[in-house]
Amino acid sequence: MTTYIKGGTVITATGVHDHDVLVDGEKIVAVVTPGSALAVSAEGGAETVLDATGKYVVPGGLDAHTHMELPFGGTVSADDFESGTRAAAWGGTTTIIDFAVQAHGQDVRASLDQWMGKAEGNCAIDYGFHMIIGDVNDQSLKMMDALVDEGISSFKLFMAYPGVFLSDDGQILRAMQQAAGNGGMIMMHAENGLAIDVLAEQAVERGETAPINHGYVRRSELEGEATHRAIQLAKVGAAPLYIVHLSASEALEQVTIARDKGANVFAETCPQYLYLNLEDHLGAPGFGGAAYVCSTPIRTKHAHHHDDLWRGLATNDLCVVSTDHCPFCMKEQKELGLDDFRKIPNGLGTVEHRMDLLYQGVVQGKISLPRWVELSSTTPARMFGMYPDKGTIAPGADADIVLYDPSATWTISVDNHHMAIDHSAWEGFEIQGKVDTVLSRGKIIVQDDAYLGSAGDGRYRKRGLSQYLI
Ligand code: URP
Ligand code: ZN
Ligand code: ZN
Repeated sequence: MTTYIKGGTVITATGVHDHDVLVDGEKIVAVVTPGSALAVSAEGGAETVLDATGKYVVPGGLDAHTHMELPFGGTVSADDFESGTRAAAWGGTTTIIDFAVQAHGQDVRASLDQWMGKAEGNCAIDYGFHMIIGDVNDQSLKMMDALVDEGISSFKLFMAYPGVFLSDDGQILRAMQQAAGNGGMIMMHAENGLAIDVLAEQAVERGETAPINHGYVRRSELEGEATHRAIQLAKVGAAPLYIVHLSASEALEQVTIARDKGANVFAETCPQYLYLNLEDHLGAPGFGGAAYVCSTPIRTKHAHHHDDLWRGLATNDLCVVSTDHCPFCMKEQKELGLDDFRKIPNGLGTVEHRMDLLYQGVVQGKISLPRWVELSSTTPARMFGMYPDKGTIAPGADADIVLYDPSATWTISVDNHHMAIDHSAWEGFEIQGKVDTVLSRGKIIVQDDAYLGSAGDGRYRKRGLSQYLI
């Protein structure tokens, strides 16, 4: 099957060019100058021609941080691998990296097998896994080496959630030393969970049980402190470090200092930390704020977190935008915390909107078109060992391609999204630009406002080592 994409503007991390693209089977085989002899013959021989006039032609997005079917707080995130990856496809994301979870007391291999089983045959788009190491011990440390060889080259640790996922500093150091030896990347949830739990308990004792208190007790200083500690431990352990879902200026400051000194420290942020705030969203009337409970939390509008994060995205102190997609319905899920914000399951549903939300940064002049592609596709692919199969438009790359219409305008709503949740954290957000057509390894899976793919189209992808390590 050959497809010729003509008349569009190809955006990659390195530039903007009026080029046509030829796809043969699952791969991009040529990027050609329109009207050239090569272009004429490629178009003439193609079975399908897609007219991309007026559209951007961009590499499919790679969301490096999702949680489909994640057990959390007595419930399970509402999108399974089928619905979540289909929603991702609607939004122009053609690869996810989800997190397999080794919970405390469980075996890493058995846990990974369980997550592989959940995903296999169900995904609309390609997928890989990071491994959450929830119990650092001799066995799990040894398993990290095996997993790197098997294409799972990144490991998430938690400084938050005491009694559930939290690793102490000694365990963190041991895991970092292991990663230093096997080439893996340590991903860190950097919040001081022990201090947060004290503040949370005190808040509840005072009768402060509403969702907004989730944001008050998870103080930005405690994200800054944990980020600083993680960076120092990574230095001692000689391991690369990737801070996940960074939301606070204090944390970004620590990353910036480390990077300025040349440390192998990287960080991602998520759309919720760029656009939502504690007062208007987490503080929504009644129990409405529960929709916005996630950790790290969305931050106050009375500081400059949003501006600082946009600065970080522009200067590369933040190098990836992922979603931390972990959706819970209001009904029966978020409602678990009606009387106590500590019981509200943590997470937002955003996998469908990441490309659009970040594109608003282009519209508002905060980032360039190539930077949009770099943050949402190219850098995550390089960071997690999937480039150049993923993350670019070039001969030899997978034909994961999005035709994006920059002139379309629309409004996000629970009524038009495809995620399996009963509300949208992005309700009413006006979006300029829209995904028009999506190809996943050469197959058209979204076109003319219809989903044309099927569960099982997506394949598990083994990953290599991060391509940013020195
Ligand atoms: O609120 C969040 N982030 N839920 C998912 C779990 C995590 O810490 O990433
Ligand atoms: Zn986390
Ligand atoms: Zn997460």
